[in-house]
Amino acid sequence: MPHAQIVGWGMYVPSRVVANDSFVKMGLDTSNEWIASRTGIEERRLVGKNEATSDLAVKASLQALHTAGAHAGDIDLIIVATCTPDHVMPSTASLVQTRLGATRAGAMDLNAACSGFVYALATGAGQIESGRAKQVLVVGADELSIHLDWKDRNTCVLFGDGAGAVLLRASQEAGVLSSTMGSDGSGADLLIIPAGGSRIRANHNGKSNRNANGDQYLKMNGPQIFRWATQMMAKASEDVMAASGLKPEQVDLFIPHQANLRIIEATARRVGIPSQKVFSNVGHYGNTSAASIPIALCEAIAAGRVKRGDNILLSSFGAGLSWAALAVRWGVSVQARPTPWSPLRLQIETRMAAVRSALRKQNRRVRTSIDSTLHRDQD
Ligand code: ACO
Repeated sequence: MPHAQIVGWGMYVPSRVVANDSFVKMGLDTSNEWIASRTGIEERRLVGKNEATSDLAVKASLQALHTAGAHAGDIDLIIVATCTPDHVMPSTASLVQTRLGATRAGAMDLNAACSGFVYALATGAGQIESGRAKQVLVVGADELSIHLDWKDRNTCVLFGDGAGAVLLRASQEAGVLSSTMGSDGSGADLLIIPAGGSRIRANHNGKSNRNANGDQYLKMNGPQIFRWATQMMAKASEDVMAASGLKPEQVDLFIPHQANLRIIEATARRVGIPSQKVFSNVGHYGNTSAASIPIALCEAIAAGRVKRGDNILLSSFGAGLSWAALAVRWGVSVQARPTPWSPLRLQIETRMAAVRSALRKQNRRVRTSIDSTLHRDQD
């Protein structure tokens, strides 16, 4: 059976940095002290007006292809984990697919909220292990800021925007060791954006017909999620370690979902992994939902925390309620990989990707027009 190895990685966060003090300046009844001490978050990145989820996802994906030395045309499947897609349809993955020029790839979105990236990684690995795909691009990208009520101090200080991506490739050597996914829909109301789907529909002005209740905003029972998350992430981590034949001391790096430093520390304590083996960057980005783990992975690699042969444990929780964990043996040399692009090079490459997509669109229009002319002539 082929193994699924991570051979490329990339991340992108918007340039706008919003520090905790900004909320105080906005008139919110909070403080830098409260936010930093209760969550570990000091700042987050938020998108500008015209930045959609696919824009972030494309930039992270281009970096992942670059570090892998891979061509978009060789990708078999693209999975974008997101709960904030550009549109209800088509999938954000399809938009990423055309912008990358991944002309052979299937494309689909996966919504498991903050657990989405680990769900998608497990799904992509399964495609490779079954022999149905050789290369799968897995992206976690979210812009939860578009669903935040900036007057609700319980939620708006917690989240940030961003994207991360990895390229999975079939290999004879071990890569993804094992994974677990779970859900308990009885807790669906504990973390929810009620409007925009079929239960509470948008009206013709594009707004929910129950906007007065703020149903377009993310609503959360923070303390209940907190308690559940520390238990569930620990359980999922233990399950996946057991399935992978790993003891806590054999885990070289633990990358949990970056929602709250206290949840991260409590989970690590429960699982028995010492703090020096835990990676956290929640202080800089807040909770970026499905993007949090791949962004943390990229920063751990950049910080020299990942080397060939390492056992890495990923664990996440989110709306659903959902949870997932996955263990991976790192199979590629990090030193030999190209460094991520400079912002200018990334900007140029992103523009070129957009031009290539526009050319393909034009090409299809011309062919459709020729086809209809030919049919008219035949009639
Ligand atoms: N500034 C000041 N006070 C605040 C703020 C704030 N930004 N936010 C909440 N408070 C207040 C509350 O109003 C409450 O006040 P009250 O007691 O007068 O009613 C009080 O703080 C609550 O305090 P604590 O019980 O100490 O809060 P807690 O330690 O539970 O921390 C937090 C709250 C940070 C929300 C925590 O519960 C948490 O992180 N929960 C998990 C949230 C999470 O991870 N969600 C993401 C899931 S992933 C996904 O799928 C999107």
